[in-house]
Amino acid sequence: MNLTVNGKKLSAAPAPGQCLRTYLREHGWFGVKKGCDQGDCGACTVHIDGKPFHSCLVPAFRAEGREVTTIEGLAKDGELHPMQKAFLDAQAFQCGFCAAGMIMTSATFSEEDRNDLPRMLKGNLCRCTGYHSIDDALHGVVNVEDDVAGEACGRSVRNPFAEDIVTGKAHYTLDVPPMDGILHLKVLRSPHPHARIKSIGRDKALAVPGVVAIYTWEDVPRKLYSTATHEDHLVDPDDTYILDNLVRFVGQRVAAVVAETEGAAEEACRLLEVDYELLPAVFDPEVAMTPVAPVLHNRSVAFHDNIYVDFHGELGSVEQGFKEADAIHEMTYSTSRVQHVHLETHGSLAWRGEDGRLHVRTSSQAPFIAKQKLCYLFGLFDRDVHVFTERIGGGFGGKQEMISEDLCVLATLKTGRPVMWEFTRAEQFIGATTRHPMTTHVKLGAKKDGTFTALQIRVVSNTGAYGGHGGETLAAALGSPIAAYRCVNKKADGYAVYTNMVPAGGFRGYGASQTTFAIECAVDDMAKLLGIDPFEIRRKNMIRETDRIESIWKDPSDVMFGSYGITQCLDQVEVALKSGRGLPKPEGEDWVEGTGVGMAMLESGPPTEHRSGAEMRLLPDGTYHLAVGSTEMGNGSTTSHRQIAASVLGTRADAIAIINGDTDKTPYDTGTFASTGTVVAGQAVEKTARALRDVLMDFTARNFDCKPEDCSLQDDAIICADRKIPLTEIHAVGAKIGDHFVVRRKAYLSPRTIGFNVQGVRLAVHRVTGEVMTLQSVHAADIGKPINPMQCRGQLDGAVAMGFGWALYEKMVYDDNGAMVNPALRDYRIPAFADVPRSEIYFADTYDTVGPLGAKAQGECAINAVAPAIANAIANATGVRFPDLPFTPDRIFDKLK
Ligand code: FES
Ligand code: FES
Repeated sequence: MNLTVNGKKLSAAPAPGQCLRTYLREHGWFGVKKGCDQGDCGACTVHIDGKPFHSCLVPAFRAEGREVTTIEGLAKDGELHPMQKAFLDAQAFQCGFCAAGMIMTSATFSEEDRNDLPRMLKGNLCRCTGYHSIDDALHGVVNVEDDVAGEACGRSVRNPFAEDIVTGKAHYTLDVPPMDGILHLKVLRSPHPHARIKSIGRDKALAVPGVVAIYTWEDVPRKLYSTATHEDHLVDPDDTYILDNLVRFVGQRVAAVVAETEGAAEEACRLLEVDYELLPAVFDPEVAMTPVAPVLHNRSVAFHDNIYVDFHGELGSVEQGFKEADAIHEMTYSTSRVQHVHLETHGSLAWRGEDGRLHVRTSSQAPFIAKQKLCYLFGLFDRDVHVFTERIGGGFGGKQEMISEDLCVLATLKTGRPVMWEFTRAEQFIGATTRHPMTTHVKLGAKKDGTFTALQIRVVSNTGAYGGHGGETLAAALGSPIAAYRCVNKKADGYAVYTNMVPAGGFRGYGASQTTFAIECAVDDMAKLLGIDPFEIRRKNMIRETDRIESIWKDPSDVMFGSYGITQCLDQVEVALKSGRGLPKPEGEDWVEGTGVGMAMLESGPPTEHRSGAEMRLLPDGTYHLAVGSTEMGNGSTTSHRQIAASVLGTRADAIAIINGDTDKTPYDTGTFASTGTVVAGQAVEKTARALRDVLMDFTARNFDCKPEDCSLQDDAIICADRKIPLTEIHAVGAKIGDHFVVRRKAYLSPRTIGFNVQGVRLAVHRVTGEVMTLQSVHAADIGKPINPMQCRGQLDGAVAMGFGWALYEKMVYDDNGAMVNPALRDYRIPAFADVPRSEIYFADTYDTVGPLGAKAQGECAINAVAPAIANAIANATGVRFPDLPFTPDRIFDKLK
């Protein structure tokens, strides 16, 4: 086949049935991304003879004789295409995985098209941005600010990889040219929710040409572990084998096949003959807690049921508190199972290097912990394993798991060849993790004036077949959402329960999202009962700056207020909702309008251990190199780390080259999750930069005959009294005497500060169809001092959009056998451009005393306030409480009719 790709002739026959996307990627055009399996996401968009197409839907042979342009060919004569420039100026991306497809689609828009973006961009999905910055790019808005020496913090400076992202040069986890001898891995997954594997017939599968090996439970180390990644591995149960002879959910791995091609591996999976002994299954955690339920895990005699962990605590006496109450509200609220849908799916590539070591390139939020687990499972020495990340296309907690690295390493160790495994989108739904669905019963007592007298909750969390994150999310569920309100009498009981469902895991908001939803709905219901304004009941009862931060446990904690901005946030949202801005209610008496508010509080960082390291050096040209262990998956940590370092060193962010997330090249980091990218890794960067500054001052004083107290760093020189000594000169003098100006520092998470978010929503509900139309969305956040306001806004926009998805659109639907019936993006609908309102975003004016340079967590807590705000607005509009997520039109219709 002959065609032209980006102006170059290409003559190569496609494989039978190959789509144009795979064909182009095989020829090195990695700007063509894979985000789904069937034309739903738009990440693979290319131009064919100038028109945009989803290349995964185009048979490769149809490109015969055509001119194909990918993102790599959009710039002409060294000049960026205007749309690339617009995306650069607006920074219309976070992880950037969708950016190539978005730009290719948008590059063909007319002026008229740009005024109809909800329709024109319906084929391109973004999970990170909430589409706000994409809208900006398409309307010529410039969000990026100049990078000024000494003023890095507080400015919206550009992402260091921005140009690579808009030109397609940014390479993600599996954007690698085929290695010699590479094998492809595929897994057969269980069709049964609970079964014992009696035998696996491999003969037919092994006969498929190209199949190299098949691995089952008999071929793997029989060691229990948890796929969840935390600093303290004891917080997760070791209840999982790499491959097991007992399957506990539909989608569990049964066998792995490695072959010369993906097609051969897939065909072999289909030909494996598995003899299962079916076992009774249980899907409902309440049923799973009863004595009649099948027990999923054989544990010690102390644990003989499906409750993985339970927590209980009480402060004061709720019994007394309810006696003192003038009004009591009681209701059960539930949250649904949703998936992260990071646009880049899970994937890993493992190989043995010329150095004899094992190298693993992976899409992970915690490469250092993944390495520890690999060493443990395969009995490897720490020094023999290297795990690293390249650019990661989103995570949201979903990549706080080790679920693709182990099988690649197993196959590489056994075959000696490189092995690559990329999850399909369907596998993301059935074989990766989800948010924990939780059912929360709330009982709330209050005086007539709204003062709470007792708050009691009972939470049942469905952790699925395995318990990773089950305890930590439950602890979070019983933590800050309860602590957010002052009440003398508080009590909670929580249970994380095994069922034969896909395992749940870490997910943005991490357990607190679920109980925040329940409590915030209950607070509104109590306000209605007492005839009090929803803002006022919150102001009356919310935690004060001088209060102890306590939930239900009597033990002291390490949580403290580094800053306190919740009152500002409530004021900002209330004023905005009353401003009259936003859309008017649609005409017609069947539309009813309502407003709602939700408040959220969350610790910056996980309750258990977390540590980060950074290393910084002065380079001969007077710029710096910064190595940080934390990973970047679109959360913006590389940008903010450079800004923090630049601020301390009085230079520009651009003067700092950065690498991250590499067990060979960067200091240790527990992982980028629970908002630790800013608060822990950011502190490590700040400490390291300060130490390097001190080293430079001290060296200059000693070698240039001046006093340290007379020295200051300014951009590219040290000012020493009236002399200006360039850093290049300092480096040169140091190099002669063996001083290389390199320092390392570590940061440890403790104490933990607190962040606040408030979401306001005004919406209309159609009483006949159940349709919900958002008229205004307002979000206020107390994130301390925003290091990069543009990026912080983007994080909030993205979290709010994800909250809208959780509340209104997304739901994993299962049949009676525990099999997901909608494992595709077209059926499991994440918000598209048309679905997300453009939120007004506000920041409280605070400076955090715990976080680096006044900053604290930004991207996590925001989602927690969104679903309850929407729920409260729907209740306000209709007069009916909908206690179960999501609020899809059919469910609203059902109840309103
Ligand atoms: S990869 Fe082609 S549309 Fe998703
Ligand atoms: S920036 Fe759009 S998917 Fe990450």
